[in-house]
Amino acid sequence: VKITDALLGEHGAFYAQFDHLTQIVPNLTATEQVQQLGALLAAALKTHARLEDDLLFQALDPHLGPMGPLHVMRHEHDIIDGSLDRLETVEDTGEAAKLLLEVISVAREHFAKEEQGLYRMAQQCLGDEKLTELGAEWAKIRKVVV
Ligand SMILES: [Fe+2]
Ligand SMILES: [Fe+2]
Repeated sequence: VKITDALLGEHGAFYAQFDHLTQIVPNLTATEQVQQLGALLAAALKTHARLEDDLLFQALDPHLGPMGPLHVMRHEHDIIDGSLDRLETVEDTGEAAKLLLEVISVAREHFAKEEQGLYRMAQQCLGDEKLTELGAEWAKIRKVVV
């Protein structure tokens, strides 16, 4: 499996979670509930970003340079990570809900940029063979049998 296809599949699963959370989070009445859902999302979202950083972005660095699209993507990973961390210590329920919904909104836009821009650049710069090699590393880390 090419790493870009694997990451696209992960995006698809996240979209289902984003839709569900967008529906239920505004109605939650306890901060802990929002935080627990946020922690569940963070477990998957932070590892998704780390896999991108460590495998795909690093392979793209020599082709695209550290500035430009990679800089933007890494910066957005930091923003998402920071908001998810802050969610752990927020006390007000409304504030927690707002923070989690913001994370989802930033992540949606971030994913769209990757799908429409960066992953396509990755295909052009790295080609099938390298992307498949990185896909094998992705599978190992995610513990998926391919
Ligand atoms: Fe990303
Ligand atoms: Fe992504």
